[in-house]
Amino acid sequence: MEYKHQAVLLEEAIKYLNIKKDGIYIDGTLGRAGHSSEILKKLSNKGKLIAVDRDTAAIKAVKDKFPDNKSLILEHANFQEIDLVLEKLDIEAVDGMLFDLGVSSPQLDNPDRGFSYQKDGPLDMRMNPEQNLTAKDIVNNYSQSELERVISEYGEENWSARIAEFIVKMREEKKIETTGDLVEVIKAAIPKAVRRSGGHPARRTFQALRIETNNELEQLKNLIDKSVSLLNPGGRLVIITFHSLEDRIVKHKFRDLAKDCSCPPDFPICVCDEKSEVKVITKSPIQASESEKDFNPRSRSAKMRVAEKI
Ligand SMILES: C[S@@+](CC[C@H](N)C(=O)[O-])C[C@H]1O[C@@H](n2cnc3c(N)ncnc32)[C@H](O)[C@@H]1O
Repeated sequence: MEYKHQAVLLEEAIKYLNIKKDGIYIDGTLGRAGHSSEILKKLSNKGKLIAVDRDTAAIKAVKDKFPDNKSLILEHANFQEIDLVLEKLDIEAVDGMLFDLGVSSPQLDNPDRGFSYQKDGPLDMRMNPEQNLTAKDIVNNYSQSELERVISEYGEENWSARIAEFIVKMREEKKIETTGDLVEVIKAAIPKAVRRSGGHPARRTFQALRIETNNELEQLKNLIDKSVSLLNPGGRLVIITFHSLEDRIVKHKFRDLAKDCSCPPDFPICVCDEKSEVKVITKSPIQASESEKDFNPRSRSAKMRVAEKI
């Protein structure tokens, strides 16, 4: 079965990347190449697009779609290792980078990947199918307090303590194997009156487990730390996030990178020698237009921030 993905903030991301036709670009979250396809259209034969995804299914699908595009280099890798990818390709710096975070629709829609609380499947949630840790390992092996922390911190779930308690009680009787098993435990943990409002009761817990399984927030921080030094001056870093935890990281990292001297204000001269590395292009995040939100509900929570290397 062929799964499709509708790219979010497509026009805006391409505009802010400021693509030069002979430049070198990175799409660090290839997915089904929604953004990559548009970047490729803007490149000449001399231009290059290095497209990275940690999911082998994404790499395979795009390889089949662009069997012999000379500008496209596909790499199965984690974007936090973007420095190693460039080193392998003997490229020192690039002219722009795009990261469209989170999961793709093909990952969500395929029940075998275990991301969806709406379809029953194995409790997996690995973006990289070659990784060892699965959501099933977390749910069945983490202590009650670790589960509570993950669900509270990454899911911002008010009922984290009860959900963790119910998971531990349930797994004492039988291993929690499927997304359906987990949804049932979450429903039992959240009182019926509360379940009637605020969307699907399992949404926040599933988000939390996905973030933990894929170590998403740590990898985003590592990525931003590395990416700026790999940009040519004037090169842009474009990041699209889908929840507040990610957006906060991008906002704070960009602000720190844009900071000049960090000496206390009463110092007569600068002793820290710190210089801003980027200029923040988007003072507030770019969001989807009303028509995009109507057409593609996934875009409703999207926020795009852009920084330019000085
Ligand atoms: C929202 S989708 C990208 C969709 C893509 N922009 C498109 O229009 O088709 C996110 C993709 O990034 C990948 N991804 C997420 N985190 C990653 C990471 N740390 N390293 C590499 N790929 C990652 C996921 O596997 C997924 O395919």
